[in-house]
Amino acid sequence: MPSVPADVPAIRSALLGWYDVHARTLVWRAPPGSRGRPDPYRVWLSEVMLQQTTTPHATPYFLKFTERWPTVSDLAAAEDADVMAAWAGLGYYARARNLLACARAVAGGHGGVFPDTEAGLLALPGVGAYTAAAVAGIAFGEAANVVDGNVERVMARLFAVETPVPTARPELRALAGSLVRDERPGDWAQALMDLGATVCRPKSPLCGDCPLTTWCAGYAGGQPERYPLKLKKAERPRRSGVAWVLRDEQGRVALVRRPDKGLLGGMLGLPTSDWSAAPDTIPPVDADWREAGFVEHVFTHFSLTLDVRTGEGTGDFVWTPVEQALGALPTVFRKALERGLGAFSG
Ligand code: ADE
Repeated sequence: MPSVPADVPAIRSALLGWYDVHARTLVWRAPPGSRGRPDPYRVWLSEVMLQQTTTPHATPYFLKFTERWPTVSDLAAAEDADVMAAWAGLGYYARARNLLACARAVAGGHGGVFPDTEAGLLALPGVGAYTAAAVAGIAFGEAANVVDGNVERVMARLFAVETPVPTARPELRALAGSLVRDERPGDWAQALMDLGATVCRPKSPLCGDCPLTTWCAGYAGGQPERYPLKLKKAERPRRSGVAWVLRDEQGRVALVRRPDKGLLGGMLGLPTSDWSAAPDTIPPVDADWREAGFVEHVFTHFSLTLDVRTGEGTGDFVWTPVEQALGALPTVFRKALERGLGAFSG
């Protein structure tokens, strides 16, 4: 492993000084150096939303959630379907189910008060290493090692780590840990994340704006963007399927509740065929089905082409007004519904 530089205090003071000036203003965040601690509920909620999601995309969801459910106990008391609908469009829907499980554990088992240590947080359902460390550091001032993809990239460059990810992950985590101190742990974690998001960007890093170039081995080597090295990714498999947009006489759309387990679990969806290389395309009900075109969607492990067909009829579905459906569906189904509606009106 690359050795940790002797001047950790200098690195820390350079980055914290940069953060004092350049911290992003984010709705869930206390300003740098704040004496008052941010509300653990808001920190936890924002950190769950921000996994796999950018800050601009997460912000309106955060505002909607905190307005509707201002405390963890309010969220714990919410109906599952309301929370899943409010999460629609954020993706990675297991996060919404875990969110509810965690809120209910805090409300039911801890009197509505979040545990104030990393270990206590880690024991909550659906709270993994990243979230426990982030909440412990940001909300409770614990010297936790908060490592997300941004922090990994900063470490890989700062220390010119030649091992590719994912193999390098433990090494990158240990390097990040070697820079953590008791002083301002929440600011430190967020400073690293902000640096990664705004300066030490995946492509075209802005080294001219970086407070750490003096110590950065990647910068010294002249090719900081080479890090982190990556193993070649296997190509995403392609799958296809049919999505049926069925409307009744009142113009409502037929939805189905997806099983809790599996992709988009617990969310509302359009009725579809299976998604595979050779889908079985028997429609859910008899109707005068019309072709409405195709939509594409990329999931983590495969890309999907849905052939959208529209028709009118009845059947045993969750019949939902169109506006409500557009707000409650995961993005892949919202795109398919929009395509189907375009075909109805056109
Ligand atoms: N990404 C995830 N959590 C973050 C935070 N608290 N600050 C900046 N970027 C983040």
